[in-house]
Amino acid sequence: MCGIVGYIGKRNTQNVLIEGLKKLEYRGYDSAGIAVFTDKGLEIAKAKGRLANLETKLENAPLIGSVGIGHTRWATHGKPSDVNSHPHTDDSHKFSVVHNGIIENYLELKEELIAEGHTFVSETDTEVISHLIAREYEGDIVKAVQKAISHMRGAYALGVLTEYEPNKLVAVRQASPLIIGIGEGENFIGSDIPAILEYTRNVYILNDGEMAVLTQDAVELMTIEGNFISREMIRVDWDATTAEKGGFEHFMLKEIHEQPKAYRDTMRGRIDVSGKHVVLPELKLTPEQIKNIRNVQIVACGTAYHAGLVGRSVIEQLVKIPVETDVASEYRYRSPIVTPETLVIVVSQSGETADTLAALREAQSHGAHVLAITNVVGSSIARDADDVITTLAGPEIAVASTKAYTSQLIAFYLLGLYLAEVRGTQTPEQIAHIIAAMQALPEQVEKMLSQADAIKDFAEQISKHEDLFFIGRGLDYAVAQEGSLKLKEISYIHSEAYAAGELKHGTLALIEDGIPVIALATQESVLEKTVSNIKEVKARGAEVMAITFEEHVAGLLKSVDQAFAIPKTLPILTPALAVVPLQLLSYYASLARGNDVDKPRNLAKSVTVE
Ligand code: F6R
Repeated sequence: MCGIVGYIGKRNTQNVLIEGLKKLEYRGYDSAGIAVFTDKGLEIAKAKGRLANLETKLENAPLIGSVGIGHTRWATHGKPSDVNSHPHTDDSHKFSVVHNGIIENYLELKEELIAEGHTFVSETDTEVISHLIAREYEGDIVKAVQKAISHMRGAYALGVLTEYEPNKLVAVRQASPLIIGIGEGENFIGSDIPAILEYTRNVYILNDGEMAVLTQDAVELMTIEGNFISREMIRVDWDATTAEKGGFEHFMLKEIHEQPKAYRDTMRGRIDVSGKHVVLPELKLTPEQIKNIRNVQIVACGTAYHAGLVGRSVIEQLVKIPVETDVASEYRYRSPIVTPETLVIVVSQSGETADTLAALREAQSHGAHVLAITNVVGSSIARDADDVITTLAGPEIAVASTKAYTSQLIAFYLLGLYLAEVRGTQTPEQIAHIIAAMQALPEQVEKMLSQADAIKDFAEQISKHEDLFFIGRGLDYAVAQEGSLKLKEISYIHSEAYAAGELKHGTLALIEDGIPVIALATQESVLEKTVSNIKEVKARGAEVMAITFEEHVAGLLKSVDQAFAIPKTLPILTPALAVVPLQLLSYYASLARGNDVDKPRNLAKSVTVE
């Protein structure tokens, strides 16, 4: 995730770019920059941190011109810094590029370009693009861009300028969003409609594999192979605030719907082309160290802790090593037994959670290798950890974590499979089988999201209650805990997650007529046992909704009141699907209660106090 904006016309370009970037800050905000064609040539200004820092820089040295591109960054390759900020340029400083996405083969391309004499200044994948375009330029920027992208693999939306053709702005879309805004004597590009909505409501939406060439008075659309295309212009009738949320009523709902993309992005480049191996080139952990791991400790807070509970089962099942999962605020004070052969995994969306950071330091002080799973490159946890697996969920704005949690699950699957291959604890066939099932997850989530209305009705019913229970066994219990936390934090309904077999040891006393119970029943090895536990609560008057696979719905409906079917996957992968209806349930229950869904009371997105 990053935000791109571009302008060609008679207005003050700098202002158009800055105002556009303000609307895109939700896509990333660790640094920003603009390039404007001024009377001195192509000039670039960039600044680490919030957009305000760039604005301050520009107050002293404004860039005056009539064509420009801008970018707000959410770091993926290289920490947030002035030099890693976009726009990027080449050795001649004649070309300038803004990019949203990931170039998977950037390291190979970079080596090739270095061998040809190009000099790189940043750690980004994007800088490769500006050098490639410069290399391919023979007097036609459109052809140069087409040739450059023919060498690139991955996802990208691009805005490109060259000093040689100052009256042109070139835009490309390949698996990252990009729209073109059409004005009178002016045209725009943007990652999202809000960036340009102040100036025009007429837009073209580019499809993957398409590009646009903008001048002040015209826009040409073509495929990246150069075949011209015509497209119907869309008239936008949303207001700006709705548009920022991509048409969704809340960021949380938008983020729930972004999960298929977050799964794909987190897997992208980490499964080799054969589909048989996980590759984690970012890991410093050597095969030797991996073989010497004696135990794993996973440490995190809140939702990230719940991802760690799934991570425990994943690593134990795939790698056959003992794993404990602990909440960070407890771990650091319980004198954990950590040795240099312990792999400690800290999980944190923000990478700034004080307790998790302290746990990381505690583990390092005992000589453990600490691997962080985090969503924010350059965060304190990412910087201090010995190894990092970045989840590519994009910025999460809603306080209730959804896409960050599920991306953490994907990271655990990738890590588990990688460790299993190195330690030889799964056969190549077993690994390939799990990878294939993982690759189907994004589409399966899309299918469930299209059935969200079924959850809405149940959510409205439960919104009238003050107490509720989630039950499940094994991985279902781990998901139940996340479902319960989600519901509490945004609907303010009291709920508890129980290991289904544990209820009868006390908590069953709380089950009375009409109390809602959500039963997760996906783990087939314990399905009959879970059904027995469902019968225990039904016998005491509970209203039970089950989450299960399609094939078990008919059978379960003999014991429960309602059932929501999730697509079939392997037992180990089920959490990545089963949690989605629970996220929707919390969202709609909160909505029905009239709560502020995105900003629940008493909570904050990043918890930097202990
Ligand atoms: C709940 C939620 C929190 C966070 C927790 C840890 O929806 O978001 O429970 O998971 O505060 O935050 P990070 O992952 O940033 O360390």
